[in-house]
Amino acid sequence: MGRRLLLSGTALIILLTISSLAEVRAASFKIVNNCRRTIWPALQATGGTGQLPTTGFALKSGESKNISILKPWNGRIWGRTHCGQDSSGNFTCLTGDCGSGALECGGLGYQPPTTMAEFGLNATAGLDFYDVSVVDGFNLPMLVVPKVTSGERACGTTGCLVDLNGACPKVLSVQRGDGREGVVACRNGLELREVLALLDLSMAAKYRWSLYSRFFRSACPRAYTDPYEDRTATLTCASADYIITFCPSPNTGKTTE
Ligand SMILES: *[C@@H]1O[C@H](CO)[C@@H](O)[C@H](O)[C@H]1NC(C)=O
Ligand SMILES: *[C@@H]1O[C@H](CO)[C@@H](O)[C@H](O)[C@H]1NC(C)=O
Ligand SMILES: *[C@@H]1O[C@H](CO)[C@@H](O)[C@H](O)[C@H]1NC(C)=O
Repeated sequence: MGRRLLLSGTALIILLTISSLAEVRAASFKIVNNCRRTIWPALQATGGTGQLPTTGFALKSGESKNISILKPWNGRIWGRTHCGQDSSGNFTCLTGDCGSGALECGGLGYQPPTTMAEFGLNATAGLDFYDVSVVDGFNLPMLVVPKVTSGERACGTTGCLVDLNGACPKVLSVQRGDGREGVVACRNGLELREVLALLDLSMAAKYRWSLYSRFFRSACPRAYTDPYEDRTATLTCASADYIITFCPSPNTGKTTE
């Protein structure tokens, strides 16, 4: 009798454990590198949610990595390029560097110009919010495709699919020190005081009217390009996993999964 009770007690504990695990809803990011070179993706939790088990790693051309995330999670993902270690073991990147001196960013921020994917997973009422932003400039084309898990409505894709580095106006371009790699990133025109000084308008109006704003807007119509814009570039989804592709082939709007 006593033994039977003990056994059913154990069974109950196991059942409770299984059901509480099922309560903890997980999402996932599949990060894909379609670029011709290695990139070093970085992930940073923001707004009080915990850092993920990995905050930075190398991803060779053609590779992908699937990362599991416990919701709620708020944070951002970007790609670092032209990274390496110096003779003292200090790891730095020419674009997107997070200043940790190591492969893992450990929750540290980023050095613009950097294309940025921003997420709030189960941020409000079970909804995910996501966008791609070039407000802090551009370094790599990016595409975010939700993979809906709950069988509900399809959710929108977003990104900045065009490689802006080649077309970047000279005044905004960031070159590699020795010039061998050409343009590695493109600054957002808002950073340029000389742009703002051109017109005697409010800060927001100056930016909106600038050629450089139009350059970003026409190249990346789905992304946030301007901190003062009133349209929303943020999408919502009830519950999804997300495929984040660096250097998607342009004009397809889909990843090559
Ligand atoms: C990541 O892997 C899990 C388990 O295989 C899968 O269910 C999930 O859909 C994958 N995520 C993406 C975004 O493909
Ligand atoms: C690592 O390199 C960066 C960029 O060159 C520099 O700012 C930083 O001080 C270096 N850190 C160490 C520990 O050498
Ligand atoms: C979202 O979070 C709420 C609690 O804030 C939880 O009850 C719900 O199950 C979560 N939904 C998803 C899809 O993770």
